[in-house]
Amino acid sequence: MKKILITGGTGYIGSHTAVELITENYKVHIVDNLSNSKIEVLSDIQKITGKKPCFDKIDLLNKKETDDFFKINNDFDAIIHFAAYKAVGESVAKPLMYYRNNLNSLMNILSNMQKYNISNFVFSSSCTVYGQPDMLPVTESSPIKKADSPYGNTKQIAEEIINDFLNANKQLKSISLRYFNPIGAHESAHIGELPIGMPNNLVPFITQTAAGIRKQLKIFGTDYNTSDGTAIRDYIHVVDLAQAHILAVRRLIKNENKNNSEFFNIGTGKGNSVLELVNTFEKVTGLKLNYILTKRRPGDIEKVWADTSLAYKELKWKAKRTLANALLSAWNREKIYRGIK
Ligand code: NAD
Ligand code: WQD
Repeated sequence: MKKILITGGTGYIGSHTAVELITENYKVHIVDNLSNSKIEVLSDIQKITGKKPCFDKIDLLNKKETDDFFKINNDFDAIIHFAAYKAVGESVAKPLMYYRNNLNSLMNILSNMQKYNISNFVFSSSCTVYGQPDMLPVTESSPIKKADSPYGNTKQIAEEIINDFLNANKQLKSISLRYFNPIGAHESAHIGELPIGMPNNLVPFITQTAAGIRKQLKIFGTDYNTSDGTAIRDYIHVVDLAQAHILAVRRLIKNENKNNSEFFNIGTGKGNSVLELVNTFEKVTGLKLNYILTKRRPGDIEKVWADTSLAYKELKWKAKRTLANALLSAWNREKIYRGIK
């Protein structure tokens, strides 16, 4: 049985990936400092899969703690590195906290990979590395523009650190998955996006407004150069995204990768506007959302969606789930979490 270390595995995308890995018969070990997730997620994973993953509460920013963990646990076939801070606005206010956490924890992991010769690494990158692309859909060879935020910059720098590290360690391999906008939840509704405080992202804001926790959704910007004037993104169901990690791990373990550092866009290949999302949510849930149209949110780009042909060609991955399905799963999760009938 192949053994996979998931950092940040009690988080949103990590927990869905843990479920998919366990379902595919991998042995999963999670490390997380629980700064943005809850220990109960482990029992939720067990409710879905029948198995509770091994877990250690480790702050990957703490080199000694991380090194001590690897002294005992180093027989992994692959590491999937999710652990990071991810709030764009917070990163503008607290840049050092973001650079420190997202980059030092990455380096603490990489140095242990090297030390124990753990060959395979999957990294959570982001479409944020492209900024507003000149051409759409955006491909992996589109230029990497100057980052819009310290958070975005941590992803760009992290990709560079991984490249330099692999150049110096040719026996090690990595796949960076550039996620577009992950949304939705597992169909069981046992796991989902954990809403700590005011959500930054659109879908948790929508579900919390529908649940009555937020008074009103603000739609940021109605004067974009798009069919209905609202901004366009590529919203990818989190379970489809989780499954891309399984294929990436498999490719690395089977040595099917073409370079020791590879990058893949993980999106649906289709853009949807904010209003389309809101309308679809209303349609699939039968609810009426209280929303207003307001001015643009500073720093937002107009439109982006992925060219996913490389992921299909190399990983044999493509998104299967619909936007309607993703929004309904997010709402089902919100209802269970809030005890709404
Ligand atoms: P999340 O916050 O739900 O999960 C991240 C997990 O990492 C959390 O459980 C948190 O407690 C943990 N963590 C953070 N710092 C840590 C540290 N120093 N030591 C140990 N654990 C630590 O976020 P997510 O949405 O699941 O995102 C996972 C990864 O995907 C992140 O790297 C994020 O930047 C990236 N990503 C997310 C999105 C998105 O919109 N959700 C999009 C693109 C990329
Ligand atoms: C989507 C659209 C908003 C909230 C962020 C990060 C990016 C990546 C994915 C990690 C935009 C609009 C939103 C609201 C709204 N994360 N919106 N009202 O900004 O595309 O990307 O998450 O790597 O780096 O920047 O996602 O969900 O915040 O916004 O109208 O209350 O919804 O303006 O057009 P975004 P989002």
